Amino acid sequence: MRIILLGAPGSGKGTQAKRMADRFGVPHISTGDILRAAVREGTELGNKAAPIMASGGLVPDDLMIGIIRERMQGADIAAGFILDGFPRTVEQAEKLDAILAGNGGEPARVVALLVPDDVIIRRLGGRRSCPECGAVYHVESTPPKKEGMCDRCGAGLVERRDDKEEAIRARLEAYSAQTMPVAGHYANKGALYEIDGLGSVDEIFERIETALTR
Ligand code: AP5
Repeated sequence: MRIILLGAPGSGKGTQAKRMADRFGVPHISTGDILRAAVREGTELGNKAAPIMASGGLVPDDLMIGIIRERMQGADIAAGFILDGFPRTVEQAEKLDAILAGNGGEPARVVALLVPDDVIIRRLGGRRSCPECGAVYHVESTPPKKEGMCDRCGAGLVERRDDKEEAIRARLEAYSAQTMPVAGHYANKGALYEIDGLGSVDEIFERIETALTR
């Protein structure tokens, strides 16, 4: 169960990845979460990544590949993983393919969530995240029970710094210029599953599950 989730910012990768990790019993690895933790802790990586993330650009490939190379050595991924946010460039995809081939086992399958830009902008504008446990809400579609407070751990919810209009525009541009070619890379290998990302969270999850178990 080696799965990569591909999709524009706000397409629902994190939301679906958490469900898939629960359903398939494998870890959810989010490079965005790894970077945000490094920013919070003020590590060298975090200090380098913070301004790039805030502006909506991509963190350099060599740093990201180093993170994933190390993570792919974890004993907890023996049965697989749900990778969310990586690879984001063809260079990252080629390096990941080589790392996985070196580890043995199946190559990754890639689920691409397709969502139009106007829906993405609505989703990101209403997103609220828990800085403690990583739970993600939306003020309209999946609000917390108590406004501004995480259902799971009770922490105060926050808006992500890169969910500002200008950063969203830059993230969408980076996605179309640098990440969309990654879908072509995996389509050429016959490993790409394109999923309609519109509808309820449950409906989309069902589409993914059906595609992967067909
Ligand atoms: P990352 O954290 O990966 O951000 P992203 O790709 O921009 O994706 P998001 O987390 O914004 O959205 P999502 O698709 O997970 O959607 P979500 O489920 O939250 O990366 C952040 C930054 O880190 C990058 O910009 C870059 O700088 C850097 N970075 C990370 N990885 C990198 C790499 N490999 N290389 C270089 N740089 C890297 O959903 C969004 C909202 O919609 C939520 O409110 C949710 O509740 C709601 N929602 C979800 N599904 C539905 C639905 N079906 N209906 C209605 N609402 C829904």
